[in-house]
Amino acid sequence: MRTHGTGLHLAIAAATCLGFAGLLTAAEAQYVGQSKCKACHLNEHKAWAANAHARAIEVLKPEERTRAECLGCHTTGYGKPAAAGTDLNGVQCEACHGPGSLYKSMDVMSKSKYQADRASAHATAVRAGLLGPDEKTCTSCHNQKSPNFKGFDFASAKEKIKHWK
Ligand code: HEC
Ligand code: HEC
Ligand code: HEC
Ligand code: HEC
Repeated sequence: MRTHGTGLHLAIAAATCLGFAGLLTAAEAQYVGQSKCKACHLNEHKAWAANAHARAIEVLKPEERTRAECLGCHTTGYGKPAAAGTDLNGVQCEACHGPGSLYKSMDVMSKSKYQADRASAHATAVRAGLLGPDEKTCTSCHNQKSPNFKGFDFASAKEKIKHWK
């Protein structure tokens, strides 16, 4: 664990200071929380905040908010690496888009790089941990293991969470 922790620290230092994020692997990424995405994605954040996912922790009773068997689907990246003190309550951006510590860097999510060559900028972001959400992303939570499962239709559910153009 210690060796792993040290490696992670160095990887993140390299990504932020030297701009080598493209050389890093997605496996080293950590969850950073929705407030970090809000800085650059105000419109997407506004749409998400008005949605049920943002309130997914609040529907749990206070005594349920410490139960592992509920938190796996009502929080983000449960049990996975995150910076200390990060608020990962509710179904946040990274529950669908992947842990963001590496791809959120200005060097990866750069407007000019996306404008110049979208496919190549996207490939770099994917190497840094960005996921393309699909039906399987949703059914990792919207499934029979949920005590309140109501069935799931991807097309109509996707329309209800729309926060993209
Ligand atoms: C420094 C600003 C910045 C931050 C921080 C940031 N992004 Fe981005 N993001 C961008 C820009 C710029 C683009 C490219 C926009 C475009 O032209 O479509 C982008 C693109 C994306 C895309 C589409 C990428 C693709 O290749 O398909 C997703 C999804 C995304 N961001 C999610 C997130 C999430 C989730 C977070 C927080 C973990 C985050 N972003 C943090 C600036 C940022
Ligand atoms: C496998 C993922 C999963 C687990 C585990 C899970 N939930 Fe949920 N929960 C969901 C989903 C998805 C919904 C949204 C309902 C739907 O559309 O199916 C939900 C909705 C709810 C709601 C909102 C009420 C409603 O009917 O929509 C409550 C309350 C709730 N869950 C409580 C709990 C409690 C308490 C636990 C732990 C004992 C728990 N959940 C465990 C996925 C899960
Ligand atoms: C419940 C899952 C989920 C959550 C939570 C979520 N997204 Fe998304 N996001 C999606 C899906 C699905 C798409 C559409 C992907 C597609 O069809 O190309 C999308 C699209 C996007 C896009 C446009 C991507 C593109 O190709 O240009 C951006 C940017 C984005 N999301 C950012 C965010 C941010 C920022 C947050 C948090 C404030 C967030 N998302 C929360 C599932 C999610
Ligand atoms: C990390 C677990 C998780 C993931 C991944 C997830 N959801 Fe959810 N979703 C929930 C929970 C929990 C609720 C209930 C929140 C509440 O009641 O406030 C919910 C509620 C919803 C709702 C509102 C309830 C309803 O039936 O109207 C929609 C729509 C929805 N999700 C769509 C999606 C889509 C589309 C995706 C994939 C792109 C997705 N979800 C991915 C956990 C998840």
